[in-house]
Amino acid sequence: MKEITIRKAVSSDFAAVLEMSEGIYNGHDYFPCFFHQWLTKPNRTIFVAQYGEKLVGLRAIHIVDGGETFISQGLRIHPRFRGLGLSTRLIDAIHKHIRQEYPKVCRERFTTKSDNIERLSIQKKYGDTALFERDILAFYVNRETLKPHHLEAVAGTFDLKVKACSRLFLYNFILNDSVANMFPGRTIVVDWEPFEALQSNIDCIFEEGDCVFSDRDANDCSTGVLPKSFAHGRRSPRVKHMHWVASIYTEDPVMFQVHVVEQLRRAYEQIEGDFIFCTFHKDRHTNWGKKLLEESVGLKPVEFFRDFGLMMFERKFPK
Ligand SMILES: CC(C)(COP(=O)(O)OP(=O)(O)OC[C@H]1O[C@@H](n2cnc3c(N)ncnc32)[C@H](O)[C@@H]1OP(=O)(O)O)[C@@H](O)C(=O)NCCC(=O)NCCS
Repeated sequence: MKEITIRKAVSSDFAAVLEMSEGIYNGHDYFPCFFHQWLTKPNRTIFVAQYGEKLVGLRAIHIVDGGETFISQGLRIHPRFRGLGLSTRLIDAIHKHIRQEYPKVCRERFTTKSDNIERLSIQKKYGDTALFERDILAFYVNRETLKPHHLEAVAGTFDLKVKACSRLFLYNFILNDSVANMFPGRTIVVDWEPFEALQSNIDCIFEEGDCVFSDRDANDCSTGVLPKSFAHGRRSPRVKHMHWVASIYTEDPVMFQVHVVEQLRRAYEQIEGDFIFCTFHKDRHTNWGKKLLEESVGLKPVEFFRDFGLMMFERKFPK
């Protein structure tokens, strides 16, 4: 086989990106929707693998955690070039680039669907460590059938309330050493990206339009009562759908449901058309979420998301 070369992507690669992404995740693929935006971000780089004139693979990196971590994303090999060892060559080339360009980076992190056999076999080969798993629920929200007063009524069945967090509250009280233990691996997953709960990640965790809630506010925290729950939601386009992706952190099943309803209300306010509402959460909250969203709210589950969770992996990089 001819030599594969790895280079940084440019915007004219878009047609090839679409070709490489054909059929991935059954219309729930995010990468083509973010390609142009990510090309403009200084802490993100997209790499493509080229075979002759043809683009045969891609992978993106995102430098986070104060420059110590790179999140790897979007890995894909053109459907006609799979099973030839190309993904490992792309991964090795990117690791070499990271060592040369980012000497401060000491770990790689990535998330994947827990049923992605091909990706998991690559992870095993590299010995990447699984840090945690989150369950996923995904439901269709149809504006014709779901009315705001119904959502209000469901929210009213709970005594507990949650409060919207400002960026400053998030920075001072959630991304705070003692509160960070609320998150598995001290890591907040935002729309499939794992960020350590560090103040330096504030711009990644709090983007314009994000809806962030907690059971506490700044007044509570200044008297020493710390947050015990946190939810983050973001509108996130996919190739064939609009998603709202909410990560919910709490031990309490009732608080979990309160956050779910609040996230759904915010998503409903922000998104104009129909959308898919997703939550990432603790496995023991899945049945509570299903009961709430199917029976009380009346939503239909998305078949594609029925059988997998989100897995987060880490690989230490030798200094
Ligand atoms: C995942 C993906 C990138 C793998 O690319 P690839 O170039 O075909 O993979 P490789 O040929 O380099 O194989 C890597 C390893 O995985 C193993 N593997 C690949 N496909 C496999 C399969 N279907 N079942 C079991 N193992 C498999 C190979 O045996 C190889 O291990 P080895 O070198 O020890 O033999 C490719 O399947 C793809 O683009 N999938 C769709 C997008 C996707 O799921 N991306 C992952 C995002 S997290």
